Amino acid sequence: MLEATARVDGIELHLVEWDLGAGRFLRDGVTISDDEFRSLAEEYDAILLGALGHPSVPGNEHARDILLGLRFRLDLYVNFRPCVLLAPELSPLKRVKVPVRLEIFRENTEGLYVGMGGVSRKGTPSEVAIEEDINTRVGVERIVRAAFEFARDRKRGRVTLVDKANALRNSGGLWRRVFEEVGQGYPGIQRDTMYVDAMAMDLVRRPERYEVVVTSNMFGDIISDLAAELTGGLGLAPSANLNPGRHAMFEPVHGSAPDIAGQGRANPMGAVRCVALLLDHFGHQKSAERVEQAVAAAIAAGKTTPDLGGGFTTSEVGSWLADRVATASAKS
Ligand SMILES: NC(=O)c1ccc[n+]([C@@H]2O[C@H](COP(=O)([O-])OP(=O)(O)OC[C@H]3O[C@@H](n4cnc5c(N)ncnc54)[C@H](O)[C@@H]3O)[C@@H](O)[C@H]2O)c1
Repeated sequence: MLEATARVDGIELHLVEWDLGAGRFLRDGVTISDDEFRSLAEEYDAILLGALGHPSVPGNEHARDILLGLRFRLDLYVNFRPCVLLAPELSPLKRVKVPVRLEIFRENTEGLYVGMGGVSRKGTPSEVAIEEDINTRVGVERIVRAAFEFARDRKRGRVTLVDKANALRNSGGLWRRVFEEVGQGYPGIQRDTMYVDAMAMDLVRRPERYEVVVTSNMFGDIISDLAAELTGGLGLAPSANLNPGRHAMFEPVHGSAPDIAGQGRANPMGAVRCVALLLDHFGHQKSAERVEQAVAAAIAAGKTTPDLGGGFTTSEVGSWLADRVATASAKS
């Protein structure tokens, strides 16, 4: 899709394929080397990452090193997860109103994911496990600002902060103060706060109410899966990991789907929509729209994999989408 779209829009691309993943790890025991991290950081504008995870690596070392390694070492502090409902019948909700366009900004480098903590008296009845929730002012401020910048640039009306400030007073207090301070610099954009438990209910009740959502690593992980399912499921959900102005990595939200591997049943649309995010990120908005329109057209025409009710294989859907981009551009 990237090549097809670049061809019709005259975008110059230099694509390099990297062999990172379970196959390489099983072959030579390397997940990703320091030199490879350096090269990815210094020599490439963007990374388009496939899903990682293989049953023959039960500990998932390769996925953890590569995915979390890239997120932390490239300081990809924005995890942008747009959940856009392309057709009402894709939602499991009976009375969903379109449009639903939830654009989630999940903090991606702090919170409960930093690995601070430990276990003592392991394996005994008095075992203690501690996981520290790290929230720095710098970290909170930059993700909140990224959400407001996006809302301003894309003319969105409201930014909602999702937290648990009634129970987690220290971190919640920091997030709320920063949200107020930063938000005041964006007059015209409504500020809104929701406790994460209330948000889980409200997303099912009236997802159309929300626009841009900003939240911590853990809450973002959970809320974005819920939002993805409400807008068509994992097979459709793309994401971007960004250090704005410096590094960008795009990946589908889903994993490697080992239960359907090799059957041609995996929906390629989540990965394809990552291409739209990539193009959009580099200022090719029209090209990004072409990709999104092709996906919407495939759904409307029933050219889909079985998860969306169609009878197409993964590569048939891919070819259909690439043809669609080429023919739609020939007509316009
Ligand atoms: N970002 C990533 O690379 C990422 C994310 C999640 C899980 N994983 C890894 O993937 C492996 C499997 O994890 P899991 O089963 O929990 O999650 P998964 O997302 O791979 O699968 C969950 C369910 O969704 C289905 N599914 C996923 N993608 C689909 C697609 N494109 N089309 C149709 N159906 C799809 C699967 O068949 C499965 O039933 C594990 O090794 C896990 O660690 C990787």
